[in-house]
Amino acid sequence: MSDAPKPLVFSGMQPTNTLHLGNYLGALKNWVKIQERMPCIYCVVDMHAITAEAGYAKPAELIRSTREVAAAYIAAGVDPTRSILCNQAQIPAHAELAWIFNCVARLGWLDRMTQFKEKSGKHKERASVGLYTYPVLMAADILLYKATHVPVGEDQKQHLELARDVAQKFNNDFGAPDFFPLPEPVIQGPGTRVMSLRDGSKKMSKSDESDYSRINLTDGADAIAQKIRKAKTDPAPLPDSEKGLEGRPEAENLINIYAALADEPRAAVIAQFAGQQFSAFKVALADLAVARLTPVAAEMRRLLADPAEIDRTLKAGAARASAIAEPILADVKKLVGFLV
Ligand code: TYM
Repeated sequence: MSDAPKPLVFSGMQPTNTLHLGNYLGALKNWVKIQERMPCIYCVVDMHAITAEAGYAKPAELIRSTREVAAAYIAAGVDPTRSILCNQAQIPAHAELAWIFNCVARLGWLDRMTQFKEKSGKHKERASVGLYTYPVLMAADILLYKATHVPVGEDQKQHLELARDVAQKFNNDFGAPDFFPLPEPVIQGPGTRVMSLRDGSKKMSKSDESDYSRINLTDGADAIAQKIRKAKTDPAPLPDSEKGLEGRPEAENLINIYAALADEPRAAVIAQFAGQQFSAFKVALADLAVARLTPVAAEMRRLLADPAEIDRTLKAGAARASAIAEPILADVKKLVGFLV
């Protein structure tokens, strides 16, 4: 049990509404790169999706979205023969470990979660209990496989810290200091916090009422170009240094998006467009976004035309995932003292 942990990547996305540019640049694009270096498990977290209204009591919608997110993973370049692609609900061990972790995590830890505060809004008492314990299920997702690396966008950082706290407390409380590794967040590159196209101080999000605030992964070329043309900017030309982006959140966001899509450092993008007007920059950005995103959307459509094949891929992935998870869960139960 005291061997150095083997590198393993785990990450997931919720199948609620359609995926957007933030999901793509903050997570998916990095997942594809990291699978070259490490074994990976990429999960469609359908059990998380029912914690909030967007995914609750909409069964047909949830199944459709689960397939759509799986298709997006593959279309973006996740290779399901190499990486494990699965959906959470087909692997009961996630729920079993989450229950044990509900007894490890402290109320005070969950009370600090900013995403719960944002999502539950003014009426906390009307939020589901699942929404509150959501980060505990997330910790179970990761630790069920003893995953060591978790590529996510910046908004998941606090949840990752909670997963580390759960791992550490479990290890201490059950006298198994090296049992769970402390998973490392992998939050890299200029796309880790993509902001709304209408308001540079707000995160690009599935739940924003305005469709003009985000670019959906399934948007066509015209919609992408139009949304970028209408994106909020300020009247000054583009700056000639990173420092010149200070206090200009919309400009910073568009530069970040360009850099992430082009796979170039931010400084190189700034050098290329320094002093230009936004009108010219937006044309270049729209061309780049269309070139990068529309092939992904086309591949998603092709894959979704054969839902049975997606279902087979998810089932095969669940079997591979369970084979890793089951022995770990059995060890956990032994440590806890369950007679099984
Ligand atoms: P979810 O479904 O909200 O988002 C999926 C991924 O997209 C990233 N993301 C963004 N990145 C940059 N800019 C944005 N505007 C933006 N919006 C979303 C998120 O950071 C995330 O990486 N709790 C997770 C799902 C989850 C999970 C896990 C992740 C469940 N279990 C275990 C990792 C490991 C979530 O709701 O992501």
